[in-house]
Amino acid sequence: MGRLQLPPAAKMFYFLLFSSSIFLVCRATVCPCERPELCEQIRDERDFEVVHVYVFDVGGKTWKSYNWSMVTTVAAFGKYDAELMCYAHSKGARLVLKGDVHLPYIVDQDNRTAWITEKVNLAKSQFMDGINVDIEQAVDEGSSEYRALTDLVKGTTEAFHREIPGSQVSFDVAWSPNCIDKRCYDYVAIAESCDLLFVMSYDEQSQIMGDCIAMANAPLSQTLNGYDQFLSLKINPKKLVMGVPWYGYDYPCLNFSQEGVCSLMKVPFRGAPCSDAAGTQKTYKWIMTQVNGSLSGRLWDDKQKAPYFNYKDQEGQIHQVWYDDPQSICPKAEAVKSKGLRGIGMWNGNILDYSDEPVARQQTAVMWNSLLGC
Ligand SMILES: *[C@@H]1O[C@H](CO)[C@@H](O)[C@H](O)[C@H]1NC(C)=O
Ligand SMILES: *[C@@H]1O[C@H](CO)[C@@H](O)[C@H](O)[C@H]1NC(C)=O
Ligand SMILES: *[C@@H]1O[C@H](CO)[C@@H](O)[C@H](O)[C@H]1NC(C)=O
Ligand SMILES: *[C@@H]1O[C@H](CO)[C@@H](O)[C@H](O)[C@H]1NC(C)=O
Repeated sequence: MGRLQLPPAAKMFYFLLFSSSIFLVCRATVCPCERPELCEQIRDERDFEVVHVYVFDVGGKTWKSYNWSMVTTVAAFGKYDAELMCYAHSKGARLVLKGDVHLPYIVDQDNRTAWITEKVNLAKSQFMDGINVDIEQAVDEGSSEYRALTDLVKGTTEAFHREIPGSQVSFDVAWSPNCIDKRCYDYVAIAESCDLLFVMSYDEQSQIMGDCIAMANAPLSQTLNGYDQFLSLKINPKKLVMGVPWYGYDYPCLNFSQEGVCSLMKVPFRGAPCSDAAGTQKTYKWIMTQVNGSLSGRLWDDKQKAPYFNYKDQEGQIHQVWYDDPQSICPKAEAVKSKGLRGIGMWNGNILDYSDEPVARQQTAVMWNSLLGC
């Protein structure tokens, strides 16, 4: 307000005018960091020595409050933030692009090559350290998309490693390689073709085949069973990063039994009659503001090793909320160490309460620290 707002085209004109000499000399983007060395991509292998902590960032500025002493990679799923890039580099952490594409489009070899070239050039112009390939589409085993996806990952990794030495290419997979959500990918070849798989050990109720009831987002034994399946395919444990949820599911209960079982509306998903889509995702920050004043307070399910609570909404309907907290994350983080996995990460880094309020500060610090074990 009150400031001269230039339209984007005019801004670009002045940008080109003032930087034209630099453009003519090297045609590269100008480093936006205070110190030019902060634009250099991270090359060292710090993440091989310590537990790799892989953070998804969805935008905003809460990254300023992350515990940077443990962060090794940030996947930028929000819009490009040059300040975040400079800051991550100052902490020795990688910042990687998001890569997603409609699979039918990259079945064509030329389209695949064009996609890879575009991503490598984007990463270079933004001084980024790699890419996280996030394809959550259904694929049939042996289909042309199945082969194209493996080729895409292989080509992307070769191009990034060649053009940006030390860069990191990762690929997101469901909690198990067993065609979860009809994602029948060539997990073995994909793992061999990239630096690491980020295993989304959450949304584990996306396909409920048994009783249609509210359950934990990521029960401990189901989570660990997923890793045993990846490892039984002879995938190197050092290629696996465990993703834990910093969010939960809020389910309106169709019926709430005396034993506290919350039955769900049947929402089918990819061949299953019932799904966690019957609920809505809620952040840990929101959950922490609701749990103490709820009907039940925090409860613990010893079978699933997860916390939950019940509350009544303004219409009088009972809801059940399942989530993860330090007590449920801690044994998962211990499994990362005992199974010799590459590291741990979360969806997503932004959804804790980063305010100065003392209780929130404490809860947020404990959530970060739980990533490193109990
Ligand atoms: C940040 O993480 C380190 C471990 O890497 C831990 O020692 C430190 O206490 C954490 N900081 C806060 C504010 O919790
Ligand atoms: C390749 O990409 C173009 C868009 O640039 C698209 O129209 C076309 O269908 C794609 N080719 C194939 C074979 O998918
Ligand atoms: C709902 O719960 C009550 C109490 O547990 C039970 O008696 C009843 O059979 C349930 N109704 C349905 C439709 O499941
Ligand atoms: C909720 O209750 C717990 C346990 O009594 C307490 O430690 C925490 O500070 C409370 N949270 C808030 C937001 O008041």
